[in-house]
Amino acid sequence: MHLDRRTALLKLAALWSTPALLRSQQAKVAAPDPHLLDCANVFDFAPFAKAKLDPIAWDYLEGGSEDEVSLKDNRTGFNRIIIRPKALVDVHKIDTSLELFGKKLDFPILLDPAGGKNCFHADGENIVSRAAGKVSALHITNGGIEKSLEKGEAAKVWWHLTTGGDLRNTQSMRSFAKRMESMGCAGICFTTDIMYVSHRERNIHNKFERNWCESGVPPRDRNGKLPPPKNPESAGESPSRPFATPTWNSLRELRQITSLPIILKGILIEEDAARAVEYGASAVIVSNHGARQLDHVGGTIEALPEVVRGAQGKIPVLIDGGIRRGTDILKALALGAKAVCIARPYLYGLAAFGQPGVERVIELLRTEFALDMGLAGTPDLKSITRDLVRIRGEQNNT
Ligand SMILES: Cc1cc2nc3c(=O)[nH]c(=O)nc-3n(C[C@H](O)[C@H](O)[C@H](O)COP(=O)(O)O)c2cc1C
Repeated sequence: MHLDRRTALLKLAALWSTPALLRSQQAKVAAPDPHLLDCANVFDFAPFAKAKLDPIAWDYLEGGSEDEVSLKDNRTGFNRIIIRPKALVDVHKIDTSLELFGKKLDFPILLDPAGGKNCFHADGENIVSRAAGKVSALHITNGGIEKSLEKGEAAKVWWHLTTGGDLRNTQSMRSFAKRMESMGCAGICFTTDIMYVSHRERNIHNKFERNWCESGVPPRDRNGKLPPPKNPESAGESPSRPFATPTWNSLRELRQITSLPIILKGILIEEDAARAVEYGASAVIVSNHGARQLDHVGGTIEALPEVVRGAQGKIPVLIDGGIRRGTDILKALALGAKAVCIARPYLYGLAAFGQPGVERVIELLRTEFALDMGLAGTPDLKSITRDLVRIRGEQNNT
């Protein structure tokens, strides 16, 4: 068998780092995909993911809602922010660690919730959970990680997503909160922006069946056709929900029911950040759901300063949406974010290379961030202050 140099080195490295007892099984362990190391940044994973996925699963992963204006804004918003690097600071040691709700985190990059992971890889939620455990990332799970928790392989710090059903009444809130507390969950992430599912028009055109993500998109027949969907995403239906959607009072009630941190995800305006403080949220995530819900809300990095103003330093502000570079994280932290969250980047890694892909995406992004900190003259997170950036076209904004 011919081995190229990279594959041979990878196999050797795997052998060295493996305990002797396991070495006998080594032959059975597949060498990591050599393309994994061809990826130098988050964007490099996307074409590998696209090539592995059915086109409709790719569109579900990558797409936004309606005109996808906010989807573009989530990226272009970062280009308006200019870093003002500090010269001659000792940066020989770089510390990316932080503390959040009493838990020490090695780096300020969290894994966002993402539904439908089985469209990208079988057992996707557990794979992501294990990857987060391996690289010590905080994982916000959509649920179903019991297997990883039992084996002690899940993320050491994990939050659980909720919205709608769990918060429907006091009884359902109580049983949800109790279950979370008994499972060792470290926080409840309450998504506020999905009271209806938006028109994701790529999915509508593809006649995408969301239920397919339970077990993965079915195989196409020899003519390239998918089985007829039973309940495809569609347009032209009047919005309606069978019961009242959560309100600020739901947050207040949940606050009284549990002592777990409650993180409100989907906050975009100053007034709501202030309300979040008033009604008992422990943190907010500035988010437009990856531009997958209401369109034309702007890029999240543009909303960050006003949300930080609204929170008045009383609760931490996190942000997600379009974060792909170490410099994006630097800019977000300079504008007042405590940490960032990512979804599509690790989903690219998951779809392309499974667990090693998720781990590699996180490792690449965190090392890129550490490098950018060093280059900007900011050796730790507390040195990343507002004067590190200016906003193009705005006067006196450092
Ligand atoms: C495929 C996919 C599924 C998602 N599912 C959920 C979800 O179930 N709940 C939620 O709060 N956010 C969900 N999101 C939004 C993410 O949590 C996050 O807010 C957003 O994607 C971050 O932007 P980024 O993908 O550009 O990093 C999903 C995003 C993607 C891409």
